[in-house]
Amino acid sequence: MCGIVGFVSHSGGGITYILHRALKALEYRGYDSCGIATVHENRIYFEKDKGKIDEVFVQINPEELPGPLGIAHTRWATHGAPSRENAHPHLDCSDSIAVVHNGVIENFLKLRKELTSKGHNFKSETDTECIAHLIEEFMSNGCGIFEAIKKTIRRLEGSYALAVVSARDPGRLYCARNESPLVIGLGEDGNYCASDIPAFLFWTNKVIVLHDGELATIGSESVAIENVNGLKIEREPVVVSWTADMASKSGYPHFMLKEIHEQPKALRDTLKFKQQTIDKFAEIISQAEQLYIVAAGTSYHSGLAAQSVLSQTIGIPSQAIISSEFANLVGNSLSENDVVIAVSQSGETIDTLRAIRHAQSKKSKVLAITNVLGSGITREADLVFYTQAGPEIGVAATKTFLVQLTTFTRIALKLLDNFGTNSPAYTENFREKLNQTPQALNQVINKLEIKTKSLASFLAEKSNAFYLGRGVSVSTALEGALKLKEISYIHAEGYSAGESKHGPIALVDEGFPVIFIAPNDVTRKDILGNVMEMRARGAYIITLGEEGDKELAQVSHQFLDMPQGFSLPFSPILYVVPLQLIAYYTAVKRGYDPDKPRNLAKSVTVP
Ligand code: F6R
Repeated sequence: MCGIVGFVSHSGGGITYILHRALKALEYRGYDSCGIATVHENRIYFEKDKGKIDEVFVQINPEELPGPLGIAHTRWATHGAPSRENAHPHLDCSDSIAVVHNGVIENFLKLRKELTSKGHNFKSETDTECIAHLIEEFMSNGCGIFEAIKKTIRRLEGSYALAVVSARDPGRLYCARNESPLVIGLGEDGNYCASDIPAFLFWTNKVIVLHDGELATIGSESVAIENVNGLKIEREPVVVSWTADMASKSGYPHFMLKEIHEQPKALRDTLKFKQQTIDKFAEIISQAEQLYIVAAGTSYHSGLAAQSVLSQTIGIPSQAIISSEFANLVGNSLSENDVVIAVSQSGETIDTLRAIRHAQSKKSKVLAITNVLGSGITREADLVFYTQAGPEIGVAATKTFLVQLTTFTRIALKLLDNFGTNSPAYTENFREKLNQTPQALNQVINKLEIKTKSLASFLAEKSNAFYLGRGVSVSTALEGALKLKEISYIHAEGYSAGESKHGPIALVDEGFPVIFIAPNDVTRKDILGNVMEMRARGAYIITLGEEGDKELAQVSHQFLDMPQGFSLPFSPILYVVPLQLIAYYTAVKRGYDPDKPRNLAKSVTVP
């Protein structure tokens, strides 16, 4: 939530353009207000306002923001409503220190009271502003800027990624982090800091990840890192494989549509990535007394599907638990013999990080599946598998559901190889089908995109929808409903089809859309019964079933035919994609921007 960037250039020109472009790549982190500050000849220039990045930047005259370095921010409001006053950057009393911040300062009220009593004049309701005044206070007591920042962060409780500029130091910017992501980019034309790598991918893929409790001084040709205790840190940059093109729309109208179309490639890349790590995951899982999967949102849905995949294919029981409820639910029952798999696209979801910390406090082993290099999760888990989705910029998760589930399916296959009691033919068929999923997915998209678009025109007029499935398809149903509600604002519920008769069916009347996920597995017969029940009450039936399933097609008003032979464990990987397309086209039809749904941000770093 919230994105920060900073840039120090060699040449001194084009700062506004670069910061604008970098900030755009972080827009998924929040978009209710934004701002920029530059430093030129011992003066800070700044602009900020409520609104999306392009709306605000169109009013900024780059000539009026001169200087070779600057910082910028895109906000997702936590403390104080979206407004010009609450937008970042925040400045001290004399407008000579500017700060952008991602995170939450928990003791800000106490700090604010203390600083107000010392005569500091606050202009916003934010927690961030106290940082600028605290730095000012230390500087007025004789500290240089770096020392003042160091003393300031020792006083802060909570999470932060900060970038700071000072009018007294027009050649450098400073940054620090604790529990909020911050990466440094080493470019040809200067150096960057940002909340996430896509911000500077257009200029460099050489990255240094800043760790908790560290500060960096960034000049145009130098980066110096030390920790809060003054220990100097030498860290080599890593070269990431992501490219600028991956972080651009490449001709698609929205990131979400581009990312839906990238899914076959994301599957292919994830299928061939690091077999050794998959083997290690399988070994650790096979020794677990209890196995838990913790995640939030879409990642939780992939965890739920994984629970079925592991139990149905290899007979390993596990429990998928929403991260924010993990500690409440498992309490003290965890032990050192248990294994917790944390799943998170961003690797920064605070609830998932807290679940990890709870597991570690009980000495359980923690494995992580994430998509983002250097994210919080990667530093806290015992072992990490990186999914190969590339950057996911649309706020609604798409590629990552598929690659997370592919990772679990690879683990299941390894467990089958090592311990399976199934016939060799079963395992070989499993392997073959898994390797065929990218191609099958390509066919699904090619065949069904137009049909999902026309279904979207129908759904766009509706106020409610049910998504129903059984077994592993409950997770597909939950994910389909989440996609529709979060980007098209139509009330949608994903449910177990069996459970739908225990209450939800009361809502169904003439024309109520019910979407059934009905692959050709052991659940199909019961699903057929549920379709008939809903139909008898006037529901408009949309079914996703196997090509050639005439019986299902006949009882459906709309039938989306999926490739034959991809039932459990592969069905969620393929069946979720038409649901993503339906949600996307419904949002577009209703005139909404699917990449920036209201009230949401892609990484949720507050509990
Ligand atoms: C839904 C969505 C969210 C995320 C959730 C977890 O489309 O994007 O529900 O899935 O916030 O995020 P990660 O996977 O980054 O932990």
